[in-house]
Amino acid sequence: MKVNMLLSKLFILVKLIVMVLCELENETMKIRKLSDGMKLSIASAAYQIEGAWNVADKSPSIWDIISHKPNVINDGTTGDDACKSYEYYKRDIEMIKFLGVDSYRFSISWPRILPTGFPNKISDNGVRYYNNVINELLANGIEPIVTIYHWDLPQSLQDLGGWANPLIANWFEDYSRILFKTFGDRVKTWITINEPKQIGLFGYGLSYLAPRLNIHGVGEYITAKHMLLAHARVWHLYDEQFRPQQKGTIGITIATDFRTGMTESPEDIQAGSDAMDFEVGLYAHPIFSADGDFPESVKRRVAKRSKEQGFGRSRLPKFTDEEIEFVKGTSDFYGFNHYSTRFYTREGFAPGTYPVPSFDDDLGAVSSYKNYTPAAIIHCTEIPKGMRQALNWVKESCNNPPVMITENGFGTLGGLQDKDRVRYIMRYIDSVLDAVDDGVNVTMYTVWSLMDNFEWVNGLRIKFGIFETDYDSNMKTRRPRLSAFWFRHLVATRTLDPNFEAQFLNLEF
Ligand code: NOJ
Repeated sequence: MKVNMLLSKLFILVKLIVMVLCELENETMKIRKLSDGMKLSIASAAYQIEGAWNVADKSPSIWDIISHKPNVINDGTTGDDACKSYEYYKRDIEMIKFLGVDSYRFSISWPRILPTGFPNKISDNGVRYYNNVINELLANGIEPIVTIYHWDLPQSLQDLGGWANPLIANWFEDYSRILFKTFGDRVKTWITINEPKQIGLFGYGLSYLAPRLNIHGVGEYITAKHMLLAHARVWHLYDEQFRPQQKGTIGITIATDFRTGMTESPEDIQAGSDAMDFEVGLYAHPIFSADGDFPESVKRRVAKRSKEQGFGRSRLPKFTDEEIEFVKGTSDFYGFNHYSTRFYTREGFAPGTYPVPSFDDDLGAVSSYKNYTPAAIIHCTEIPKGMRQALNWVKESCNNPPVMITENGFGTLGGLQDKDRVRYIMRYIDSVLDAVDDGVNVTMYTVWSLMDNFEWVNGLRIKFGIFETDYDSNMKTRRPRLSAFWFRHLVATRTLDPNFEAQFLNLEF
């Protein structure tokens, strides 16, 4: 009898402990439903997946050129074949269908459509290819979301200065007009430019991305202005000449990783907020803020440093009043790419810490991922709460626009059992739902990427796919990873269930 009582008390005690532990666990992640308006999507980009770099009349893009140079791509690979999506696009669409997502975000290769870069010659071959992709998507009930420019500029236009030439606004408008005319009857969501910061800072200010000009402190600012003007031209073109019949939406995608203070000290908080202005506000403020133009803090800092350095004028070009008005309000949604968070401080920064002049020197701060465990691909270091904070930054700084999360994902060195990716995506979506509770208007969440692909200077070695791509096989065979099955389950149930996740992560296949 006594033993029985003791056992039942023990049982109650164990139960209580389990309940408390569950409660603690639930505090970090509870079972949640995705918000009703939030569509789910998956993404890729032309140069990263298509291959067929020189078929028919396609001309080389800046990526074809740099990937063929020695010692540029870390693993010596190119995008010549990539995933062979140009040949086997139907297979990609079967994979998307398997996931059950609402839409597929992909990009159009400018030199595949316009081999000269200009509209004097439209490639039948290029038009046929993208018509096939769009029609196949629609036949399968998947909405096409098209990025007009995802980094593969025709080399012919680069030879004329690329985004550093103000005439790029004309060239970009001409190219976009052809896309609207040709595909706009079926494509209802357009993204003008993917990640202007990466294009301008990494391609013109530094040498991480094509065209690798490394003209720091100058190239990134000139191109920022030209990209904003070119984007605005295309938004107005669509708005005035195509939207009335085609009835679609068009916006820009900005890399919106979160930047914040290293500590809670007022100086660090200021450094974090300045970093956000430099890295995100530079592109977002002119479009989304009520007064337009570049952020005050960026204008002030660059002007001051430029003067000290003996430049006759600020290295950050000015917008005229007309240009400010022209750019303001030119995005129907905020296209939001997010991967991680960095922490900023001015302690330890001294003139000379970075090359002079440069973007980093102008910002005048140093940064790190603090004590978070660094991910194999450093810019994917898992800091889920930064997603919520970045989304709230958009809500506060950009007039609470509809936010389409156009990219979020996790890079690895491979393997089908990608528990780390499942965990990362799950926690980031949980953080998106926190932001939705805060009042951020998130209309879409997109995983980057459908399958492993050419990860720019990191080549084929870095894997972002929820499907694996076997580059050794002639057909670039795909296999679903654990994350593909998990994402498919999420799409089907629209429920983020940590219990399911826990069981799921024990599966082997
Ligand atoms: C952002 C870029 O848009 C995409 O092309 C790239 O592959 C991912 N980040 C992952 O680094």
